[in-house]
Amino acid sequence: MNKVAEYINSFMTFDNPQLPEILKQEQTIKDIHIEPSVGLEVGKFLSLLVRMTNAQRVLELGTCLGYSTIWIAEALRQTGGKLISVEHNVNLYKVTSQNINEAGLSDVVEVIWGDASKVIDQVEGPFDIILQDSGKHLYPVMLEKCINLVRKNGIIIADDALFKPMGFPEEYSEPVHDYNKRVFEDNRLYSTLLPIGHGIVVSTKLCD
Ligand SMILES: C[S@@+](CC[C@H](N)C(=O)[O-])C[C@H]1O[C@@H](n2cnc3c(N)ncnc32)[C@H](O)[C@@H]1O
Repeated sequence: MNKVAEYINSFMTFDNPQLPEILKQEQTIKDIHIEPSVGLEVGKFLSLLVRMTNAQRVLELGTCLGYSTIWIAEALRQTGGKLISVEHNVNLYKVTSQNINEAGLSDVVEVIWGDASKVIDQVEGPFDIILQDSGKHLYPVMLEKCINLVRKNGIIIADDALFKPMGFPEEYSEPVHDYNKRVFEDNRLYSTLLPIGHGIVVSTKLCD
């Protein structure tokens, strides 16, 4: 960890005791394919966004073990809001449901087991915030639907925005790069890219 990251992390505390447990699971679970979580800085930022916007309805695409889910849900507990989170791996769905239960957030989060690209057609908007962190190939494909589902002045966040300059394989980095280009070119959105974690693109919807 470099000195800046070390300094930032020295201020960061976990909002829920299940969060460090999930980081341990990321290292210890070997029989399920686990992708990295958003990490501490992005988790804290997501929680901040929920609180700043008094979000009531949040949609998360790509739950994994529920790390980002719990950051968001802990903040939604304060605002009185609810989170729908979608995961297509049934084993992750089961572990995550248990993690959310352990975190005492079952009444805040509904985890849906399913393909995010299909579930998105079944959920009803509007959402205050949508977090896109599912299959990278789905980012550009699902963008239009995310724009339709988020309210005016609502927020769409996509994780792993810096995959291309970080040198991740093209299979993952190219669709994310495509997504980045699209959101910055789309005049219905106002976007920025923040270099925290693997990078996040934050977009707000300007129109109804
Ligand atoms: C990077 S991980 C999510 C990490 C999580 N947001 C966190 O920070 O704790 C991506 C997850 O998306 C899931 N995923 C990939 N494609 C999906 C799809 N089409 N529908 C639902 N989930 C999907 C993967 O199984 C994986 O668990």
